[in-house]
Amino acid sequence: MRKKVLVAKDLVKLYKVGTSEIRAVNGVSLEIDEGEFIAIVGKSGSGKSTLMHMIGLLDTPTSGQIILNGSDVSFLKDNELAKIRNREIGFVFQSFNLLPRTSSIDNVMLPLKYSNIDKSTWRQKAEDMLRLVELSDRKDNKSNELSGGQKQRVAIARALVTDPSIILADEPTGNLDSKTGVEIVELFKKLNKQGKTIIIVTHDDDLAKIAQRQIVIRDGKII
Ligand SMILES: Nc1ncnc2c1ncn2[C@@H]1O[C@H](COP(=O)(O)OP(=O)(O)OP(=O)(O)O)[C@@H](O)[C@H]1O
Ligand SMILES: [Mg+2]
Repeated sequence: MRKKVLVAKDLVKLYKVGTSEIRAVNGVSLEIDEGEFIAIVGKSGSGKSTLMHMIGLLDTPTSGQIILNGSDVSFLKDNELAKIRNREIGFVFQSFNLLPRTSSIDNVMLPLKYSNIDKSTWRQKAEDMLRLVELSDRKDNKSNELSGGQKQRVAIARALVTDPSIILADEPTGNLDSKTGVEIVELFKKLNKQGKTIIIVTHDDDLAKIAQRQIVIRDGKII
């Protein structure tokens, strides 16, 4: 049996806005095995990003349980969650979220500075990841000197550099033209072949199609 990387049980996220309450996520349970490639799809406002933020330990559920690599993280405090998040989760965002006026290599090294990984290995690890995303020739370029697709490849290298157990990506091709989007799709495919567990929120059919499993969300529930 394959190892379960993530188990979520009955996740609920309530937002109070004025006097009304929004159930952004309304009782989602899921299990994700090591090495799976999952696409989370659904209409705008259906709760995909909210679910992703809870799975990625960026936000805590109103109720429900999250078990990451066998340990229950539901009751951990923010600082403990941040430590686990940095070690176990690699994030890729629609808008890249790179540091401006900072070189590719420094952007990729950033998560290592918040880890326990030996400093003498940082540069080598970052260079290895830039090679993996085929951007070695842009390692000293600042992020504002890169194309959109190159920025996203730096962001993917940054997400991989701590060797996390899960890569989470929210609309990673959303700001790219279709040709560049395909390159990023191919890159995720390659990473998954190498054994990475990948969970992607997407409206992009090309990206959703290559996933082994699609999870469809409607009104905060899996359908
Ligand atoms: N911080 C917040 N406060 C109040 N309501 C929120 C908040 N964040 C999200 N919501 C609401 O929760 C619901 C789900 O939002 P979410 O961002 O998860 O949707 P989504 O599926 O990611 O949509 P999209 O495809 O447009 O990104 C929406 O109705 C949204 O308005
Ligand atoms: Mg969203």
